[in-house]
Amino acid sequence: MQNSPKRFTITAALPYTNGPVHIGHLAGVYVPADIYSRFQRMQGNDVAFVCGSDEHGVPITIKAKKEGITPQQVVDKYHAIIKQSFQDFGITFDNYSRTTAKIHHDTASDFFKKLYEDGKFIEQTTEQFYDKEANQFLADRFILGTCPKCGFEESYGDQCESCGTSHNATDLINPKSSITGNTPSLKETKHWFLPLDQYEPWLKEWIVKGHKKDWKTNVYGQCKSWIDDGLRPRAVTRDLDWGIPVPVEGADGKVLYVWFDAPIGYISATKEWAEKEGKDWEPYWKDENTKLLHFIGKDNIVFHCIIFPSMLKAEGSYIVPNNVPANEFLNLEGNKISTSKNWAVWLHEYLVDFPNQQDVLRYALTANAPETKDNDFTWSDFQARNNNELVAIFGNFINRVVVLTNKYYEGIIPEPASLSEVDITTLTQLKAYPSVIESSIERYRFREAQAELMNVARLGNKYLADEEPWKKIKTDEERTKTIMFVSLQIASALAVLCEPFLPFTSSKLKNMLCLNEEQNNEESLQWKDVSTKETLISSGHQIGKGELLFSKIEDEQVQQQLDKLEATKKANEVMNASPEPQKDTIQFDDFTKLDMRVGTILEAEKMAKTKKLLILKVDTGIDVRTIVSGIAESFSPEEVIGKKVTVLVNLAPRALRGVESQGMILMTETPDGKLVFLNPDKEGLINGATIS
Ligand code: 2FM
Ligand code: ZN
Repeated sequence: MQNSPKRFTITAALPYTNGPVHIGHLAGVYVPADIYSRFQRMQGNDVAFVCGSDEHGVPITIKAKKEGITPQQVVDKYHAIIKQSFQDFGITFDNYSRTTAKIHHDTASDFFKKLYEDGKFIEQTTEQFYDKEANQFLADRFILGTCPKCGFEESYGDQCESCGTSHNATDLINPKSSITGNTPSLKETKHWFLPLDQYEPWLKEWIVKGHKKDWKTNVYGQCKSWIDDGLRPRAVTRDLDWGIPVPVEGADGKVLYVWFDAPIGYISATKEWAEKEGKDWEPYWKDENTKLLHFIGKDNIVFHCIIFPSMLKAEGSYIVPNNVPANEFLNLEGNKISTSKNWAVWLHEYLVDFPNQQDVLRYALTANAPETKDNDFTWSDFQARNNNELVAIFGNFINRVVVLTNKYYEGIIPEPASLSEVDITTLTQLKAYPSVIESSIERYRFREAQAELMNVARLGNKYLADEEPWKKIKTDEERTKTIMFVSLQIASALAVLCEPFLPFTSSKLKNMLCLNEEQNNEESLQWKDVSTKETLISSGHQIGKGELLFSKIEDEQVQQQLDKLEATKKANEVMNASPEPQKDTIQFDDFTKLDMRVGTILEAEKMAKTKKLLILKVDTGIDVRTIVSGIAESFSPEEVIGKKVTVLVNLAPRALRGVESQGMILMTETPDGKLVFLNPDKEGLINGATIS
């Protein structure tokens, strides 16, 4: 076991407050951070686990503009949804704050002022992109262009979402304003820069030469490449009206860059928590013995490993992170999760479809966590993890133990006879698990840790299957008592060890085994007890009735989720459908040659041996004629009878499969390829749909 410091400041990336949170957030940041925090608390360590809503920045103002509301209204709405989702999924923040809180504005302003007064910034007048039509400077996400590093054409001004590189807007190739689409001009403006180049030697020492090789490979690699490329001064202020005003003279209309204020949000969230708890916040940020950890996604690495540490170093009185366990990204059914494309499983929606099944999602996301590479979440994997692991292994073991204990002994733990070799081996194996799981958690390998947890349930299942108490009860009651006693020790160990991963299950199971302090007047079981105590649950102790911990997820439930995603895909296609280019110009005379009439379909039948053709009888007002129309894949004959349609009546007749067609019914097409009769007033038709 490791001699870890006793005090932990654990931060989880502050989510942007321009949308709800989804499974990617949970898998990448919040579940691992929660597992780690719960685990450290279970070791008796002093933990401050903080987070909050990141409520400044351009995406929020863009969202507000789009919805015709104020940025404050946007963040109020999503802050409430996000906070609730975290609570619902058992993320045990000691404080979930927000960056529009006064304490944060004060903390961030003071931080800036201190650096300003200590001469840590460079003041520079530079040329920045300006949109003349919108009459504003274009900060960060107000500007789009080609990434100079990877060539992605829709990179933002401050960061490329494709390769993760962080850059200055003026580095972009072919920049465009995202407000008007215009090519911006350059205009002079004054800003404050943090001279990252001055921190390069220190960063090299700290990260490259220092002990940071125990950081995850992806994190260390990104940092090293940044440092090797050479660091440049970085503007920490912006010309915007949403954010924390720059607290110095001559900075009207300027705010702190969101990536300057957001990480300070960790400090203000700690302060807010300490105030409520009557604690001193400073040791959590200033005592060298504190282990400061930032849980983040890979797109945030540079900010947490280079920029924020440089800010902390510049301030002078803070510690720097001990580790930054960043995860890669989680995809969904083969595609990148995207808030704007609604390609996501939203946490608040998941709970509507799978009520009280938070642990199933926590489990599936950890089992498939993107710890070393991007991973894919699929609903079929989710179903398999639940049905084949949680239900068939964990749930099955607990169910058998609890049901048999109730059946044989009315729920009272029996007195064991002497232990056989297999009992001793099993209990010895059980005792080894806490340190095995601990070692994985301490190395931020949560998938591995959770797999070991499942091995505890496997150990129990194997023991039961080998010892067969349901058979022994008929021949050897004493032996059965011992088997059940040993099984109950394993069940109790599971109740404790699963808490960081499956907190709802842990509490259900403790309740079922009556292991809570108030249920048995004994001190509740601790993590270390599993390896040190001879007995976790004693003979004579009464347990409760069995209830199922997990239930099977049916194919229909999975199909429902896939259908939902399919509908999203279709909706996106509609949104992104681009019209066919305009045909060559015709003269008015050409147009008047077309004779179009309103008609009514009187009869319709499928043309034999074809998929697409219907033979129609149409009353054109001039006559009743036969028209062969290629609409059979979109309409049944019954559906079209009686329909009023537009008919091109002077089209030269032509024979289709031996039937002469005397005209054409005018149709158009929805973006997903369904033909509809020409009536542009119909829902689903988009501008530019061709008429044919
Ligand atoms: O990427 C994001 O969602 C950012 N809002 C993370 C901020 S982390 C911290 F520095 F506040
Ligand atoms: Zn790029």
